[in-house]
Amino acid sequence: DAWLRYAALPCDARKAASIPAGIVALNGTETSPVYTAGQELHKGILGILHKDLAVTSTPTNGSSITIGTVNAFTSTGGALPELDLKDDGFWLSIKNDSVQIVGQNERGALYGTFQYLSMLAQGNFTEVAYESNPSAPIRWVNQWDNMDDTGTHGSIERGYAGPSIFFAEGLIVEDLTRVSQYARLMASIGLNGIIVNNVNANVNLLNSTNMAGLGRIADAMRPWGVRMGISLNFDSPRTLGKLTTADPLDEGVIQWWGDIATDLHNHVPDFAGVLVKANSESQPGPLTYNRTLADGANLFARAIKPHGDAIVMFRAFVYDNKINQTNWKADRANAAVDFFRDLDGKFDDNVVVQIKYGPIDFQVREPVSPLFGHLEQTGSVIELQVTQEYLGQQCHLVYLPPLWKTILNFDMKVDNKPSLVRDIVSGERFNQKLAGYAAVVNVGTNTSWLGSHLAMSNFYAYGRLAWEPTSDDVSILEDWTRLTFGSDRTIIDTITKMSMESWPAHENYTGNLGIQSLTDITGPHYGPKPQSQDGNGWGQWTRADATSIGMDRTVWNGTGYSGQYPPEVAAMYEDVETTPDDLLLWFHHVPYTQKLKSGKTVIQHFYDAHYDGAAVAQTFPKQWEAVKGLIDDERYDEVAFRLEYQAGHALVWRDAINNFYFNMSSIKDEQDRVGNH
Ligand code: GCU
Repeated sequence: DAWLRYAALPCDARKAASIPAGIVALNGTETSPVYTAGQELHKGILGILHKDLAVTSTPTNGSSITIGTVNAFTSTGGALPELDLKDDGFWLSIKNDSVQIVGQNERGALYGTFQYLSMLAQGNFTEVAYESNPSAPIRWVNQWDNMDDTGTHGSIERGYAGPSIFFAEGLIVEDLTRVSQYARLMASIGLNGIIVNNVNANVNLLNSTNMAGLGRIADAMRPWGVRMGISLNFDSPRTLGKLTTADPLDEGVIQWWGDIATDLHNHVPDFAGVLVKANSESQPGPLTYNRTLADGANLFARAIKPHGDAIVMFRAFVYDNKINQTNWKADRANAAVDFFRDLDGKFDDNVVVQIKYGPIDFQVREPVSPLFGHLEQTGSVIELQVTQEYLGQQCHLVYLPPLWKTILNFDMKVDNKPSLVRDIVSGERFNQKLAGYAAVVNVGTNTSWLGSHLAMSNFYAYGRLAWEPTSDDVSILEDWTRLTFGSDRTIIDTITKMSMESWPAHENYTGNLGIQSLTDITGPHYGPKPQSQDGNGWGQWTRADATSIGMDRTVWNGTGYSGQYPPEVAAMYEDVETTPDDLLLWFHHVPYTQKLKSGKTVIQHFYDAHYDGAAVAQTFPKQWEAVKGLIDDERYDEVAFRLEYQAGHALVWRDAINNFYFNMSSIKDEQDRVGNH
């Protein structure tokens, strides 16, 4: 149940609580979100307040909680104030004997219901009346689940919580109970869409048995207002359809995808759309056929267009993964803008471009992807990662919203006008109808969903921020903690303190000053391996040698990357003096003895930060002890085990990185902690 436990409030609070006497769920057939909302409310109130309220579908004159769409309210004579609701938005009015939960659509009514339940579960009985709208229309999760043709269970790329809940033995699993529970969690935080299979897509997902299976997945998620989509493999017409080409302009190929779209629509009438990874990391794509990426995206856009409002999410993660470091000007970070800059305006109107938050790959610190400043005629979706691929793979506590908010609050200053990333991905800045959020979540069959109890705060916060990116990251965390572990102040304070310390600490003991996560780039992306950072074809480089370190991404002497930002931002990053310390080595190649704004040298900062970060991680097990006895032993022990591990692993990180750069630079640590003693 994650944060939807509906644990009983203490006896006194239950007795004092006064809520209406019944539940009315208007306009709900059994698979509709309003019907679901009525059932969920019944279940929640039974758990939280021990009250067994009857659920009906016709309005009463008596005291009730009424849920429905604006249309259902007005057509049954309900009085509503003037509302300005967007798609999926809701109106929530709580008074002693009457609660109104009104959605602009059915999904909105369900979201309002979850909001009401969240208040009750936290013991909050205040009277309120407000409307709430999502910041952006697209609020999706991406699963990187494989179908695993031969194994018994679908594995998950960069998944750390066991096998897939969707796939096994090349097929869609029979029992989809867990899938519908996942949709419930998503709905409770306002998420409305999911891509169920890996971006490195298996063509067999499109065979006839699996098409029917996709229909079953969509059926399981629909009552929760979650629409299903899939990742496509560009080469499917050749590999599955046995055509001789997958050229996006070939008539046979166009016909083939058209037929697939019709089939998909027949099985999934409210199909959400497709996600496409093309010409990236050896995946096929339109460039293989000398066509543009826009030709590739529009191929799918036109295939799905006749069948409703499905969309194409075309990933901007296109780059050459065999580049050569001997070329000083080579830079993977340039790739997205180089590939997409001239395509703005060339995509059909049902295409959005899905852009990872930084130009490389979910590092502990990256500047915002400059591509967000280039697409004015095409909607942008920001891609975040809940699964902690580079950030400790759920074995380390890293609360991610502070990182995400740093990105979302960044001002690109396009055309010298305020251009916050969050306003670009809401569609507001460039007036886009389609825009929003996608996060790689990768839940698995582990009963904790993500393999770690505390990692679930990231999933919860992702939904909350996609709904309202200005929300405060500490309040979100406190809500999550109360819902997950209860309202005891010690629990809330302990989890808040550790969580808010966790990203800075992780950055300190892994890779600071914008050098990236100094992990094993060519292997599992886990644990320290600074030596893998150079000489690889992936283009994740530090250019460290005996005297200096960092990527020169300036226009005047480097890869030219800083020039991809709008002029004001570009000027800031071009100059070593105005580049913030935390991104210094991302943009500049400097001697280890270069002074930072703090007055420390780069190398001394490395040494100190690694000691500081690891020292913070050392405090986590002790901090956690404060909640012993306040939460159940099972979850207490599981978290304690991971925090203990993290504390140890942080020391491994600290010493591996510090020794590596000591050996490389031969510069002594001022405090004499590093090196052979
Ligand atoms: C990263 C990740 C891959 C993934 C890729 C992507 O490189 O390590 O597992 O396939 O990103 O986002 O497409």
